[in-house]
Amino acid sequence: MEVIICPDADEVGRVAAAKVARVCADEERPVLGLATGSSPLAIYAHLAAKVEAGELDLSAVDAFALDEYVGLDRNHPESYASVIARTVTEPLRMDPARVHVPDGAAEDVEAAAEAYERAISEAGGVSVQILGIGTNGHIGFNEPTSSFSSRTRIKTLAERTRLDNQRFFSSLEEVPTHCLTQGLGTIMDARHVLLVAQGAAKADAVAATVEGPVSAVCPASILQHHRRATVVLDEAAASGLRLRGYYQHVYAHKPGWQRFA
Ligand code: GLP
Repeated sequence: MEVIICPDADEVGRVAAAKVARVCADEERPVLGLATGSSPLAIYAHLAAKVEAGELDLSAVDAFALDEYVGLDRNHPESYASVIARTVTEPLRMDPARVHVPDGAAEDVEAAAEAYERAISEAGGVSVQILGIGTNGHIGFNEPTSSFSSRTRIKTLAERTRLDNQRFFSSLEEVPTHCLTQGLGTIMDARHVLLVAQGAAKADAVAATVEGPVSAVCPASILQHHRRATVVLDEAAASGLRLRGYYQHVYAHKPGWQRFA
Protein backbone atom coordinates (compact mmCIF):
# COMPACT_ATOMS: atom_id res chain seq x y z
CA MET A 1 0.00 0.00 0.00
CA GLU A 2 1.12 3.52 -0.65
CA VAL A 3 0.54 5.56 2.52
CA ILE A 4 0.59 9.36 2.23
CA ILE A 5 0.44 11.45 5.40
CA CYS A 6 -0.72 15.04 4.95
CA PRO A 7 -0.54 17.95 7.41
CA ASP A 8 -4.32 18.52 7.39
CA ALA A 9 -7.67 17.34 6.07
CA ASP A 10 -7.77 19.79 3.16
CA GLU A 11 -4.40 18.57 1.88
CA VAL A 12 -5.79 15.00 2.05
CA GLY A 13 -8.51 16.15 -0.33
CA ARG A 14 -6.05 17.91 -2.63
CA VAL A 15 -3.68 14.94 -2.91
CA ALA A 16 -6.48 12.40 -3.34
CA ALA A 17 -8.20 14.58 -5.97
CA ALA A 18 -4.91 14.77 -7.86
CA LYS A 19 -4.75 10.95 -7.84
CA VAL A 20 -8.31 10.72 -9.21
CA ALA A 21 -7.52 13.28 -11.93
CA ARG A 22 -4.35 11.37 -12.85
CA VAL A 23 -6.25 8.08 -13.28
CA CYS A 24 -8.93 9.88 -15.33
CA ALA A 25 -6.22 11.34 -17.60
CA ASP A 26 -4.49 7.95 -17.99
CA GLU A 27 -7.59 5.99 -18.99
CA GLU A 28 -9.46 6.37 -22.24
CA ARG A 29 -12.89 5.73 -20.71
CA PRO A 30 -12.53 6.29 -16.97
CA VAL A 31 -15.19 5.10 -14.55
CA LEU A 32 -15.34 6.65 -11.08
CA GLY A 33 -16.18 4.76 -7.90
CA LEU A 34 -17.86 7.16 -5.47
CA ALA A 35 -18.20 7.09 -1.69
CA THR A 36 -20.50 9.01 0.63
CA GLY A 37 -19.73 10.20 4.17
CA SER A 38 -17.72 13.21 5.26
CA SER A 39 -14.27 11.75 4.42
CA PRO A 40 -14.37 12.24 0.62
CA LEU A 41 -16.01 15.70 0.68
CA ALA A 42 -12.64 17.49 0.40
CA ILE A 43 -11.80 15.35 -2.66
CA TYR A 44 -15.05 16.39 -4.33
CA ALA A 45 -14.39 20.06 -3.49
CA HIS A 46 -10.93 19.89 -5.10
CA LEU A 47 -12.28 18.01 -8.13
CA ALA A 48 -15.04 20.62 -8.49
CA ALA A 49 -12.37 23.37 -8.50
CA LYS A 50 -10.55 21.54 -11.32
CA VAL A 51 -13.81 21.27 -13.28
CA GLU A 52 -14.49 24.95 -12.66
CA ALA A 53 -10.99 25.85 -13.88
CA GLY A 54 -11.52 23.82 -17.07
CA GLU A 55 -8.74 21.34 -16.13
CA LEU A 56 -11.09 18.37 -15.82
CA ASP A 57 -14.22 17.32 -17.68
CA LEU A 58 -16.32 14.60 -16.08
CA SER A 59 -19.48 15.22 -18.10
CA ALA A 60 -19.16 11.96 -20.06
CA VAL A 61 -17.74 9.83 -17.24
CA ASP A 62 -19.70 6.94 -15.72
CA ALA A 63 -19.74 6.67 -11.94
CA PHE A 64 -20.95 4.12 -9.41
CA ALA A 65 -21.60 4.75 -5.72
CA LEU A 66 -20.67 2.11 -3.18
CA ASP A 67 -23.89 1.76 -1.28
CA GLU A 68 -27.42 2.88 -0.40
CA TYR A 69 -29.78 2.47 2.53
CA VAL A 70 -32.62 0.00 2.19
CA GLY A 71 -36.05 1.23 3.22
CA LEU A 72 -35.35 4.93 2.76
CA ASP A 73 -37.15 6.85 0.03
CA ARG A 74 -34.79 7.81 -2.81
CA ASN A 75 -35.87 11.43 -2.37
CA HIS A 76 -35.08 11.50 1.36
CA PRO A 77 -32.31 14.10 1.82
CA GLU A 78 -30.07 11.49 3.48
CA SER A 79 -30.57 8.73 0.91
CA TYR A 80 -27.21 8.18 -0.77
CA ALA A 81 -28.89 8.95 -4.11
CA SER A 82 -29.65 12.45 -2.76
CA VAL A 83 -26.24 12.82 -1.09
CA ILE A 84 -24.36 11.84 -4.27
CA ALA A 85 -26.51 14.20 -6.40
CA ARG A 86 -25.83 17.06 -3.98
CA THR A 87 -22.13 16.50 -3.24
CA VAL A 88 -20.88 14.96 -6.51
CA THR A 89 -23.11 15.04 -9.59
CA GLU A 90 -24.03 18.72 -9.38
CA PRO A 91 -20.73 20.31 -8.25
CA LEU A 92 -18.66 18.12 -10.58
CA ARG A 93 -21.05 18.79 -13.48
CA MET A 94 -21.53 15.12 -14.18
CA ASP A 95 -24.36 13.68 -16.25
CA PRO A 96 -27.02 12.43 -13.78
CA ALA A 97 -27.85 9.59 -16.19
CA ARG A 98 -24.28 8.32 -15.84
CA VAL A 99 -24.09 8.49 -12.04
CA HIS A 100 -25.42 5.29 -10.51
CA VAL A 101 -26.43 4.45 -6.95
CA PRO A 102 -27.71 0.99 -5.90
CA ASP A 103 -31.51 0.88 -5.79
CA GLY A 104 -32.23 0.36 -2.10
CA ALA A 105 -35.94 1.00 -2.68
CA ALA A 106 -36.30 -1.86 -5.21
CA GLU A 107 -38.99 -4.43 -4.51
CA ASP A 108 -36.57 -7.19 -5.45
CA VAL A 109 -33.37 -6.09 -3.73
CA GLU A 110 -31.46 -9.18 -4.84
CA ALA A 111 -32.25 -8.50 -8.50
CA ALA A 112 -31.26 -4.84 -8.01
CA ALA A 113 -27.90 -6.01 -6.59
CA GLU A 114 -27.27 -8.28 -9.57
CA ALA A 115 -28.24 -5.52 -12.01
CA TYR A 116 -25.78 -3.17 -10.29
CA GLU A 117 -22.90 -5.64 -10.67
CA ARG A 118 -23.81 -6.05 -14.35
CA ALA A 119 -23.92 -2.29 -14.93
CA ILE A 120 -20.43 -1.88 -13.43
CA SER A 121 -19.03 -4.61 -15.71
CA GLU A 122 -20.79 -3.21 -18.77
CA ALA A 123 -19.24 0.21 -18.09
CA GLY A 124 -15.80 -1.46 -18.18
CA GLY A 125 -15.19 -1.77 -14.43
CA VAL A 126 -14.21 0.96 -11.99
CA SER A 127 -10.96 2.84 -12.72
CA VAL A 128 -10.51 4.35 -9.28
CA GLN A 129 -12.63 3.58 -6.25
CA ILE A 130 -12.77 6.34 -3.65
CA LEU A 131 -13.23 4.98 -0.11
CA GLY A 132 -13.78 6.36 3.37
CA ILE A 133 -13.53 4.04 6.36
CA GLY A 134 -15.92 3.39 9.23
CA THR A 135 -14.66 3.48 12.82
CA ASN A 136 -15.12 -0.32 12.81
CA GLY A 137 -13.02 -0.74 9.66
CA HIS A 138 -15.91 -1.03 7.20
CA ILE A 139 -15.60 0.11 3.59
CA GLY A 140 -18.81 0.73 1.71
CA PHE A 141 -21.14 -0.88 4.23
CA ASN A 142 -19.13 -4.10 4.46
CA GLU A 143 -19.31 -4.58 8.19
CA PRO A 144 -16.81 -6.70 10.18
CA THR A 145 -16.72 -10.38 9.07
CA SER A 146 -18.01 -9.53 5.57
CA SER A 147 -16.73 -12.10 3.09
CA PHE A 148 -13.63 -11.00 1.23
CA SER A 149 -15.23 -12.27 -1.99
CA SER A 150 -18.65 -10.69 -1.42
CA ARG A 151 -20.49 -8.94 -4.26
CA THR A 152 -23.25 -6.31 -4.11
CA ARG A 153 -25.87 -7.52 -1.64
CA ILE A 154 -28.13 -6.57 1.24
CA LYS A 155 -26.42 -6.19 4.63
CA THR A 156 -27.57 -5.50 8.16
CA LEU A 157 -25.85 -2.42 9.57
CA ALA A 158 -23.77 -2.77 12.72
CA GLU A 159 -25.09 -0.82 15.71
CA ARG A 160 -21.75 1.08 15.75
CA THR A 161 -22.47 2.26 12.18
CA ARG A 162 -26.05 3.25 12.98
CA LEU A 163 -24.79 5.27 15.97
CA ASP A 164 -22.07 6.90 13.83
CA ASN A 165 -24.64 7.85 11.17
CA GLN A 166 -27.29 9.01 13.61
CA ARG A 167 -25.97 12.57 13.18
CA PHE A 168 -27.60 12.71 9.74
CA PHE A 169 -31.05 11.81 11.09
CA SER A 170 -33.28 13.21 13.82
CA SER A 171 -33.19 10.04 15.93
CA LEU A 172 -31.53 6.61 16.05
CA GLU A 173 -34.87 4.97 15.18
CA GLU A 174 -34.84 6.86 11.88
CA VAL A 175 -31.47 5.37 10.83
CA PRO A 176 -32.18 2.42 8.50
CA THR A 177 -31.17 -1.05 9.70
CA HIS A 178 -30.25 -2.41 6.24
CA CYS A 179 -28.33 -1.34 3.17
CA LEU A 180 -27.36 -2.46 -0.29
CA THR A 181 -23.59 -2.34 -0.66
CA GLN A 182 -20.95 -3.31 -3.17
CA GLY A 183 -19.08 -6.29 -1.77
CA LEU A 184 -15.41 -6.46 -0.86
CA GLY A 185 -14.89 -8.56 -4.00
CA THR A 186 -16.58 -5.83 -6.07
CA ILE A 187 -14.37 -3.13 -4.53
CA MET A 188 -11.23 -5.23 -5.07
CA ASP A 189 -12.02 -5.41 -8.80
CA ALA A 190 -11.43 -1.64 -9.18
CA ARG A 191 -8.17 -0.91 -10.98
CA HIS A 192 -7.09 1.58 -8.27
CA VAL A 193 -8.42 1.97 -4.75
CA LEU A 194 -8.01 5.26 -2.91
CA LEU A 195 -8.87 5.36 0.80
CA VAL A 196 -8.97 8.64 2.71
CA ALA A 197 -9.32 9.19 6.44
CA GLN A 198 -9.16 12.24 8.66
CA GLY A 199 -9.32 12.66 12.44
CA ALA A 200 -8.26 10.70 15.52
CA ALA A 201 -11.51 8.69 15.59
CA LYS A 202 -10.24 6.80 12.53
CA ALA A 203 -6.71 6.12 13.87
CA ASP A 204 -7.39 2.59 15.19
CA ALA A 205 -9.28 1.49 12.05
CA VAL A 206 -6.48 2.92 9.84
CA ALA A 207 -3.75 1.14 11.85
CA ALA A 208 -5.64 -2.17 11.61
CA THR A 209 -6.15 -1.64 7.86
CA VAL A 210 -2.57 -0.77 6.97
CA GLU A 211 -0.47 -2.61 9.55
CA GLY A 212 -2.77 -5.21 11.09
CA PRO A 213 -3.26 -8.77 9.90
CA VAL A 214 -5.53 -9.18 6.88
CA SER A 215 -8.70 -10.20 8.65
CA ALA A 216 -12.41 -9.90 7.93
CA VAL A 217 -12.77 -8.41 11.42
CA CYS A 218 -11.31 -5.28 9.81
CA PRO A 219 -12.84 -5.45 6.31
CA ALA A 220 -10.63 -2.65 4.92
CA SER A 221 -7.52 -4.78 5.62
CA ILE A 222 -8.33 -6.71 2.40
CA LEU A 223 -6.92 -3.66 0.59
CA GLN A 224 -3.43 -4.94 1.53
CA HIS A 225 -4.02 -7.46 -1.27
CA HIS A 226 -4.82 -4.80 -3.87
CA ARG A 227 -2.10 -4.08 -6.43
CA ARG A 228 -2.72 -0.34 -6.51
CA ALA A 229 -3.95 0.84 -3.14
CA THR A 230 -3.31 4.40 -2.00
CA VAL A 231 -4.17 5.55 1.52
CA VAL A 232 -4.19 9.31 2.15
CA LEU A 233 -4.38 10.41 5.79
CA ASP A 234 -4.12 13.49 7.92
CA GLU A 235 -1.73 13.39 10.91
CA ALA A 236 -4.49 12.49 13.39
CA ALA A 237 -5.77 9.54 11.35
CA ALA A 238 -2.14 8.37 10.90
CA SER A 239 -1.30 8.66 14.60
CA GLY A 240 -1.67 4.91 15.30
CA LEU A 241 0.73 3.80 12.53
CA ARG A 242 4.04 2.33 13.70
CA LEU A 243 5.87 3.01 10.43
CA ARG A 244 4.82 6.66 10.06
CA GLY A 245 8.39 7.83 9.54
CA TYR A 246 8.97 5.25 6.81
CA TYR A 247 5.85 6.32 4.86
CA GLN A 248 6.97 9.95 5.04
CA HIS A 249 10.46 8.99 3.82
CA VAL A 250 9.03 6.99 0.90
CA TYR A 251 6.72 9.82 -0.17
CA ALA A 252 9.50 12.41 0.04
CA HIS A 253 11.67 10.22 -2.23
CA LYS A 254 8.97 9.20 -4.69
CA PRO A 255 10.38 9.16 -8.22
CA GLY A 256 9.08 12.02 -10.37
CA TRP A 257 7.27 9.76 -12.83
CA GLN A 258 5.23 8.27 -9.99
CA ARG A 259 4.13 11.61 -8.59
CA PHE A 260 0.59 12.82 -9.06
CA ALA A 261 0.43 15.74 -6.61
C1 GLP B 1 -20.56 5.42 5.93
C2 GLP B 1 -20.42 4.91 4.48
C3 GLP B 1 -18.98 4.62 4.15
C4 GLP B 1 -18.13 5.71 4.79
C5 GLP B 1 -18.12 5.55 6.27
C6 GLP B 1 -17.41 6.66 7.02
O1 GLP B 1 -21.58 4.87 6.66
N1 GLP B 1 -21.24 3.80 4.12
O2 GLP B 1 -18.82 4.55 2.74
O3 GLP B 1 -16.80 5.60 4.33
O4 GLP B 1 -19.42 5.30 6.76
O5 GLP B 1 -18.12 7.85 7.05
P1 GLP B 1 -17.48 9.27 7.33
O6 GLP B 1 -16.59 9.55 6.16
O7 GLP B 1 -18.61 10.23 7.41
O8 GLP B 1 -16.71 9.14 8.60
